[in-house]
Amino acid sequence: MKEIRFFRLGTDDVAPIAAMETAAWGPLGASERTIRRRFSLGHTMIGAGVDDVVAGAICFAETTDDPHDTAKFPKSFADYSSMPTSAPALSLYVYNLGIRPEFRGTNMARGLLREMIEYGRRVGARWVVGDGRCPSYAGVQDGTPDKVLRDEEFRQTIDSWHRTGKIPSTRAITRDPLLKFYRRLLDCEFLHLAPDFLPEDVASGGYRVIFAKDISQGGAQLI
Ligand SMILES: CC(C)(COP(=O)(O)OP(=O)(O)OC[C@H]1O[C@@H](n2cnc3c(N)ncnc32)[C@H](O)[C@@H]1OP(=O)(O)O)[C@@H](O)C(=O)NCCC(=O)NCCS
Repeated sequence: MKEIRFFRLGTDDVAPIAAMETAAWGPLGASERTIRRRFSLGHTMIGAGVDDVVAGAICFAETTDDPHDTAKFPKSFADYSSMPTSAPALSLYVYNLGIRPEFRGTNMARGLLREMIEYGRRVGARWVVGDGRCPSYAGVQDGTPDKVLRDEEFRQTIDSWHRTGKIPSTRAITRDPLLKFYRRLLDCEFLHLAPDFLPEDVASGGYRVIFAKDISQGGAQLI
């Protein structure tokens, strides 16, 4: 594996970011216009570069909001990913972590999460927050680079969470490979289920699982 360079992305990088988005997310990838808008809102994007290619990125907004305030939490991905930034930052609301398929299975995801956490600590934030996809709810459809099978038991877990509002066990939630990935790397807590968050994400049944990690505790070795 060639050397991975982590760096702050800016408005000069909009075209390569959009290319990476399409490669990582298929039709769910953000357009150049959307990326420009996110920059204009003051969002931060950290890239992972290999040679001249943007191989992956993590994107987030700093906010004074507390993710535990479920009533105030954005109700859709459109709102979540277009929040204006506010200071002093209590939380980083991360709405995108994506890696080009050919660079997956490396330490890149871990590196991007680590860079984001270091950034959060520098600005004095307490929480890093994510909207976790759960593609095993329906299984990944054609047209995206991922392959995840539908998992009936996981689907029932999500449906029951939606019906009752009662948070399932971490074991039941982490049957999904992506939620397991976040739990494994961040040791995050799962906070609430967001239905109809991104209906276009058919694999996840439109759901997102909102999670948070307290980065104010512990030493340097979070991940
Ligand atoms: C999520 C993503 C950044 C992870 O990067 P990665 O390089 O694959 O991550 P790692 O190799 O460190 O870890 C992969 C692990 O997560 C799981 N995983 C993550 N994404 C997965 C996916 N789309 N399909 C299947 N498993 C996935 C795997 O089970 C794997 O676990 P294992 O090591 O026990 O097999 C990358 O898959 C990606 O860009 N996916 C598309 C965009 C996306 O879904 N982003 C997350 C938004 S919530």
